[in-house]
Amino acid sequence: MLAYRHAFHAGNHADVLKHLVLDQVLRYMTAKDKPFRYIDTHAGAGGYLLKGAQAQKKAEYREGINRLWSRPDLPEPVAQYVELVQRFNLPEAAPGEPAPVLEKGMTPPLALYPGSPSIARMHLRPGDSMRLFELHPSDARTLAAHFGGRHVQVINEDGFAGLKGQIPPSPRRGLVLMDPSYELVGDYGKVVATLRDAVTRFAEGVYLLWYPQVNRIEAAQLPKRLMALSPKGWLHVRLTVNKPDAQGFGLSGSGMFIINPPFTLHATLAAVMPYLVEQLAQYEDASFLIEEQPA
Ligand SMILES: C[S@@+](CC[C@H](N)C(=O)[O-])C[C@H]1O[C@@H](n2cnc3c(N)ncnc32)[C@H](O)[C@@H]1O
Repeated sequence: MLAYRHAFHAGNHADVLKHLVLDQVLRYMTAKDKPFRYIDTHAGAGGYLLKGAQAQKKAEYREGINRLWSRPDLPEPVAQYVELVQRFNLPEAAPGEPAPVLEKGMTPPLALYPGSPSIARMHLRPGDSMRLFELHPSDARTLAAHFGGRHVQVINEDGFAGLKGQIPPSPRRGLVLMDPSYELVGDYGKVVATLRDAVTRFAEGVYLLWYPQVNRIEAAQLPKRLMALSPKGWLHVRLTVNKPDAQGFGLSGSGMFIINPPFTLHATLAAVMPYLVEQLAQYEDASFLIEEQPA
């Protein structure tokens, strides 16, 4: 049985990087008037109570989304992401009442954090579709309770194995988020094997892979192994906020490896990463890296 629960980590610095990139890519995908499929191979529960016992255990969101929540100087892409999270925090509409809207200058209290399926849902249009894989039975049940409808499927199965059955989508336009917990060291190898197969089946798909910056050879080698798949174009971004703890453990930062990134993404990230380093740093040597091979 898997022990990892994303609720313990919701809204931390790694979620900030991952969800900011996801938000930017979704904006790019929805700027074109053509439907696409969003596939989340490791979807989590869809949303998290930051005042709940799990999120409060280490309160990781305090060093993540909380540091950006009320800042008046957010660069535009960061402001767009924070606004999505703020919309997720609006109270639900009373029966028969219109949904509350986020007024300019309004900052609701930070109580909830949206998972990747919720961020995707805020962007998807009626013709787009979603496939959400989640292996943990209780997170899959939570997802199924909140995500439904004709174009949405919640699948309580292994997302690595399930991806091949979802690509290429019809029509051939798709965005895949692969966000494993890396609880099992075999996940690193599965990421590479699954993406190798995926780019063969659906070369033009957009793939977003998240990985942790931890003291493991498998994590350090992962970006190079993904570059060796020789996708047409890729972008690698990494945000380092801390050093490993005294035992050499802990999450120092995280990275995203993007296959077939929007051509605008490099410039967007180059503009916001220095700001994220400044705001999310937990030690003086916090840093970022961006490298790209354009298509
Ligand atoms: C990092 S969390 C996902 C967070 C989510 N993508 C987000 O951004 O809000 C990883 C999730 O993958 C689930 N999981 C682990 N192994 C899996 C597998 N082989 N297939 C599908 N889900 C898996 C875990 O239960 C966990 O909920």
